[in-house]
Amino acid sequence: MAKRVLVTGGAGFIPSNFIRHLLAHTPYEVVSLDALTYAGNLENLADVMSHERLSFVHGDIRDAALVRDVVAEVDVIVNAAAESHVEKSIEEGASEFVTTNVEGTQILLDAIRARPIERFILISSSEVYGTAERDPMDEQHPLNPRSPYAATKAGGDRLAYSYYVTYGLPIVIVRPFNNYGPRQHPEKVIPRFITQALSDEPLTIHGDGHASRDWLYVDDDAEAIEAIIEAPLDRVAGEVLNVATGVDMSVAAIATSVLEALGKPLSLREHLPERPGQVDRHIGSTEKMERLTGWRARTSFAEGLERTVAWYRENEAWWRAIRREHVSSASSS
Ligand SMILES: NC(=O)c1ccc[n+]([C@@H]2O[C@H](COP(=O)([O-])OP(=O)(O)OC[C@H]3O[C@@H](n4cnc5c(N)ncnc54)[C@H](O)[C@@H]3O)[C@@H](O)[C@H]2O)c1
Repeated sequence: MAKRVLVTGGAGFIPSNFIRHLLAHTPYEVVSLDALTYAGNLENLADVMSHERLSFVHGDIRDAALVRDVVAEVDVIVNAAAESHVEKSIEEGASEFVTTNVEGTQILLDAIRARPIERFILISSSEVYGTAERDPMDEQHPLNPRSPYAATKAGGDRLAYSYYVTYGLPIVIVRPFNNYGPRQHPEKVIPRFITQALSDEPLTIHGDGHASRDWLYVDDDAEAIEAIIEAPLDRVAGEVLNVATGVDMSVAAIATSVLEALGKPLSLREHLPERPGQVDRHIGSTEKMERLTGWRARTSFAEGLERTVAWYRENEAWWRAIRREHVSSASSS
């Protein structure tokens, strides 16, 4: 019988692209559990929602009874549900970040303690490292999370590790670097720049824009998570795996590339004051992931950006609706 894979947060950016990838490239049955917060968008799954190997459960990973029932039906869990926006954690408070990213992870872990499964993959984040002390950052790099978001991801990450050590559960911790691609909420920097440029609005850059990140195209991330599901368990259980490209690019350079790709004037770049809690530089080591699973990122930044820009150009109704919602919820709060 085909494996049944639970993907939490399925209506979000990375998980919806990952689900589409699993349905297209594997025989797995996929179950998605999503609370449909402001970041969850069923439009992200619209083209696969009626797929015979996908079932969708509207619910919260903090609901222990529901989680127990859903976990009883699956072989593999990919926990990708999270409060994921660094700036929101800084500006609006950390409470939801703590309950979803730490307590939600604990509830899932306790569910597999009660009923073991084949493997549990926690989608952590490279943000747990903080600013790079060395370059590239390997999995031994110290954890110095700099924002409430990053601290809650580090909490979930280390909690998952403790369940591997303490209870011998089959847990793998994955630290993807910055993803970009179709269906990413326009609050995140690359889609924000693209949608600002398409609207002829200024591309707002905090500080001088020198902060750089290792940018991973979302389909490459989907292939990486699939490779971790398929790797021999004894090779990956208890391991932390970076998912990165090994190449970095600054935020200012991205603003320029977006404007060039859309044929818009570079004068649309606008600098704002620096914000607290930001990470300066991030480049991931790709060595361990390649050694343990054979995976390597395949998409160059130029190619990924071209595909991403094309998607936002063709899906204007998708991002305009999110922007309208954002404006109306900001004005009613
Ligand atoms: N986007 C990135 O660059 C990046 C990089 C590294 C790691 N990550 C991690 O990858 C995962 C996915 O990130 P994303 O950017 O696709 O996020 P996203 O914000 O687009 O999607 C998150 C999804 O989780 C759902 N969700 C939130 N709280 C929930 C809860 N309590 N119960 C059930 N569902 C809930 C939301 O409705 C949404 O559909 C997250 O764990 C994030 O921390 C993201």
